[in-house]
Amino acid sequence: MPRPLRIAPSILASDFAKLGEEVRAVDEAGADWIHIDVMDGHFVPNITLGPDIVKALRPHSAKPFDVHLMIAPADPYLEAFAKAGADLISIHPEAGPHLHRSLQTIRALGNKAGVVLNPGTPEAMIEPVLDMVDLVLCMAVNPGFGGQAFIGSVCDKVRRISAMIGGRDIDLQIDGGVTTETTPQVVAAGANVLVAGSAVFRGGPSAYNANIEAIRRAAEQARGEWA
Ligand code: DX5
Ligand code: ZN
Repeated sequence: MPRPLRIAPSILASDFAKLGEEVRAVDEAGADWIHIDVMDGHFVPNITLGPDIVKALRPHSAKPFDVHLMIAPADPYLEAFAKAGADLISIHPEAGPHLHRSLQTIRALGNKAGVVLNPGTPEAMIEPVLDMVDLVLCMAVNPGFGGQAFIGSVCDKVRRISAMIGGRDIDLQIDGGVTTETTPQVVAAGANVLVAGSAVFRGGPSAYNANIEAIRRAAEQARGEWA
C-alpha cells in the first residue's frame, strides 16, 4: 500500500501581514496539511514565528498543522506548540542532546512526532528512533529560507530512508525547492508528503488552487495514479 499523497503548503512564502487569510486561502485551495516553519535566528539564520501565532492561526483551518521547528533548544517550547494547536511537531536531531526523549515528549503531549534531516545529515541519525516517529522530513535545501534551489542529491537519501521505513506507518516528507519540475524525482524516490512554499504561494490567492493541483498532478503521475 503506497503511503497517501499529501501536499503541505509552507506559509513561510505567504503574506505575513495577513497570515490568517492566507491559511484560510490555502486550506480552501486544497492544501492537505498546513506547514508552519518556526525559526529562531540561532539554529537557522532567520526568525519567523512562535506559539502565539500558531494559536492565533488555529481557528483559520481545521487541516493538520505540521509544525517544523528549526530552533535549538526545542524541548522548552514543545508544550507551548502542542497547546497552540500543532498536530505534528518535527525536530532536528541537532537541536538537542536527547533526540529520543524529545520525541517521547512530543508524543506524550498528544502530538505526532517528526524528525528532520538537513541535506548534510546522514540517515543513520534517525535509525535508532524510527519507532518513535510518525514522519521523517528530508530537507532538500539548507533550512532558513524559502525559494532556494533544490539539492537533487538528497533524492538518494530519500530512497534509502524509504527502504529503512519499509512497511512502518511513517510518512516521508520532503521540504525545500519542491515544484512541478522537482516533484517527479522526489516522489519516485519515495516521498509522500510534499512541502511547497514559493511554488504554492506565487501568483496570489487566485492561483493557489491551480498551484497545489499542478504539484498534486505531477506527483500522481509519478506514482502512476494518473494517465
Ligand atoms: C526552509 C523551510 C521550507 C521552506 C520551503 O527552511 O523549511 O519549508 O518554506 O520553501 P520553498 O518551497 O520555497 O523552497
Ligand atoms: Zn519547513
